[in-house]
Amino acid sequence: MTTYFFSQLIINWYHKYGRKDLPWQKNKTLYTVWISEIMLQQTTVKYVIPYFKRFILHFPNIRSLDKSKLDDVLYLWSGLGYYNRAKNIYKSVKIIREKYNGKFPDQFLNVIKLPGIGRSTAGAILSLSLNFFYPILDGNVKRILIRYYGIMSTVQDKKIEKKLWKIIESITPIYNTAQFNQGMMDLGASICTRINPKCQYCPLNKKCIAQIQKAWDKYPLKNKKKIYPNKLFWFVVIKYKYNFWLQKNTQKNIWNNLFCFPQFNNEKKALNWLQEKKININTYQKMISFSHKFSHLILHIQPIIIELTHISQLHEENQKNIWYNLKNPQHIGIPKPVQRIFEIFKKDIFKTRIIKL
Ligand code: ADE
Ligand code: SF4
Repeated sequence: MTTYFFSQLIINWYHKYGRKDLPWQKNKTLYTVWISEIMLQQTTVKYVIPYFKRFILHFPNIRSLDKSKLDDVLYLWSGLGYYNRAKNIYKSVKIIREKYNGKFPDQFLNVIKLPGIGRSTAGAILSLSLNFFYPILDGNVKRILIRYYGIMSTVQDKKIEKKLWKIIESITPIYNTAQFNQGMMDLGASICTRINPKCQYCPLNKKCIAQIQKAWDKYPLKNKKKIYPNKLFWFVVIKYKYNFWLQKNTQKNIWNNLFCFPQFNNEKKALNWLQEKKININTYQKMISFSHKFSHLILHIQPIIIELTHISQLHEENQKNIWYNLKNPQHIGIPKPVQRIFEIFKKDIFKTRIIKL
């Protein structure tokens, strides 16, 4: 019986079952692989695909991105979350122009210096695009290693991270690094899944400790259940026909630079603000509240709607406030919960159009 190296098993499996026609695997450049890897941080492949396609259509190369405004980039990122990633891309483009002549660097030490890029992402970019020999260690790869070697640790454990890097350095092959790295990520996504891994189809099942012990659920160790803090926001949805009043969020929080409804911690503050703006609050209505989960907190959102009789009551000033036109939307960044509210009004606008026809 032949014994195969870990890496051979993965590469053979990749040839048969791995993903080869994801949009970022076609016409690959350093630039497109960079964008895809940033989008894929903390986000699933399925969710990323339409965002990636649209992004590359609008910004096919670094030059086009360099000529754009941050608002244009955030517009295409709207709904993808973790908006710092988009801002880091925007910052990186300026660095790439000044330091690397407008070309995405192909030296590891230069790639890893760009904002938003750590060791694993730098390795993914260079290995997947140029087949350079760099290991990667994302959540999927960590889970496979922890199970295969029977390591008693959580995925996030910082103490074990060094050890996992040592392991992946030693098993990543010098040749076909791209296929190996993509194979590991694909195996983690489709076979060695977080729950109910399909060990019977796994190329590693002969020597995998978790499989031998029939105890995949013990690896990796689970984090203690986190209790997320809850926060309540009142969104003030001021509309005039299909125009909505939005403010650019200048606070240094997750939605910095995105356009949001005026938001308040309680109803009283919301109403006070409306009175200051001399807006008649007699007609205000509560919408159904909903929640939005962040990685660190749960936001409960209570929207209230006010329909103005004249648009002139509120004025746009120095691009901090806008009347957002739902029929002909401006290119700006909008967070998911704000989009969710617009979806409701979009249905109404669509309906009235049908009736008119
Ligand atoms: N997650 C991060 N990078 C990925 C890639 N290239 N393919 C699939 N999932 C990924
Ligand atoms: Fe994961 Fe099962 Fe494969 Fe082990 S045998 S690596 S637990 S899928």
